[in-house]
Amino acid sequence: MSKLEFPNALFIDGKWVPSARRESFESVNPATEEVLASVPRADAHDVDLAVRAAKKAFYGEWSEVTPSERGRLLYQLAQAIQSRREELAELETLDNGKPLREALGDVDGVVQTIQYNAGAADKLQGDTIPLGKEVVDFTWLEPLGVTAHIVPWNFPLGIAVRSVAPALAAGCTVVLKPAEESPLSALRLASIAKEVGFPDGVLNVVTGFGEEAGAALVRHPQVRGVTFTGSAETGRKIVAQTAEALKPLVLELGGKNALIVFADADLERAVSDAIEAVFGNCGQVCSAASRLLLHRSIQGEFVERFCERASSLKVAPGLENGDLGPLISKEQLQRAQDYIRSGLQEGAELRLGGKRPAHLPRGYFLEPTVFEAVNPQMRIAQEEIFAPVVVAMPFDTDEEAIRIANEVDYGLVAGVYTQDIRRAMTFAQKLECGSVWINGWYLGGVQAPTGGVKASGFGRERGLAGIHNYLQIKNVAIKL
Ligand code: NAI
Ligand code: MG
Repeated sequence: MSKLEFPNALFIDGKWVPSARRESFESVNPATEEVLASVPRADAHDVDLAVRAAKKAFYGEWSEVTPSERGRLLYQLAQAIQSRREELAELETLDNGKPLREALGDVDGVVQTIQYNAGAADKLQGDTIPLGKEVVDFTWLEPLGVTAHIVPWNFPLGIAVRSVAPALAAGCTVVLKPAEESPLSALRLASIAKEVGFPDGVLNVVTGFGEEAGAALVRHPQVRGVTFTGSAETGRKIVAQTAEALKPLVLELGGKNALIVFADADLERAVSDAIEAVFGNCGQVCSAASRLLLHRSIQGEFVERFCERASSLKVAPGLENGDLGPLISKEQLQRAQDYIRSGLQEGAELRLGGKRPAHLPRGYFLEPTVFEAVNPQMRIAQEEIFAPVVVAMPFDTDEEAIRIANEVDYGLVAGVYTQDIRRAMTFAQKLECGSVWINGWYLGGVQAPTGGVKASGFGRERGLAGIHNYLQIKNVAIKL
């Protein structure tokens, strides 16, 4: 695969701008380990330029655009992305590694997300508050201003748009920093936004490293809100970086999510959902089912059926459209291999996988990997591995299942498979997480809020909650 045609430039104020230092880094195709494109390694100076452009647009041209015109522009952006569905999916597959089928699904999700926010742009209404005849009191919902969006590499376009679209719908302007592992689709997004008519400076993209461009962006005094998706470790740094200026913050961090199966569950459905929930996007999903909690009476049969299905999954480069592509990077592969070693050392039983596939000597591939005989306190049962590696654990009672499910630092999602509505609702009440899914996985959609508790972060994205992240309430009171 030859190098892609990409200007080695940032997208600032509607133009391609080289970084001031002219330093670059390379984005690599994780299936081949070959270089795809060079992109600028932005520093604080470049970030400042982008934030200034966003600020100028916020107080200038963008402030003159009515809410319904903002919605129309977003709708046009959705249509332009729809019409370039294959091209964008292929770019995402090259840069991230995921199977083309999944990348196409991501682009469809991006279109839906933008359309949802387009429709909401002119429905962001305040309240009138009854205070008696002597005072008129009402609220306005005002955009925050310039917002910073720091996104990871697992759904490069999907996670970018999940926060950028509502910020634009709310009337904010944006500086987006994609992950260094997968910067290309964000740059494409910005140039498409320009093509459909977004004013210059409304959507800016700076590529660069987290500690450098990311930290400078988050710290920038003119940035009025920050949305971050990524690791809990980096999330803590972002909190520290924004503490001084007291910036509103949305943090979407990791998960160690339990998929809980009871004896009365539809086992076929549970197994087939679990395959998708564990191995989709090669396990690199914050809401992946990385822990299988199985009632002891069905544990043996479940693991048997699960491993049989998992062993038939095809590991292949994303463009060949198998079931699992490569992991994003050499670092992530090594991290996963370290966890596999740690699981073996702690005495877990490796039921499937654990190695790089022999037929793929190049690329960051890993076999679907299943551990059994896992103790809930082992590292592989507590920490986010972010790879196609799952741990299966038995339980005997409802109380034990809830305790194991909750006894991790994270609290993003959990799922329960049972025919017993009373049990399902009890679990929904007692599970400490942002979303509970019953008899299904990856439920909800662009309309439903998503986010975490505990080390999974705070704030909610998607739905109307996702737009309110970018609005502040102003109360106006008039004495008559
Ligand atoms: P990371 O959290 O370090 O990177 C995510 C984004 O944050 C990137 O755009 C990066 O450039 C930026 N960043 C890093 N340090 C920063 C800083 N000091 N200031 C501002 N921005 C900064 O994640 P990483 O290191 O790529 O992955 C490590 C682990 O994190 C994964 O194995 C996985 O467990 C977890 N992770 C979770 C994700 C999720 O969706 N919840 C996404 C990506 C990673
Ligand atoms: Mg990092």
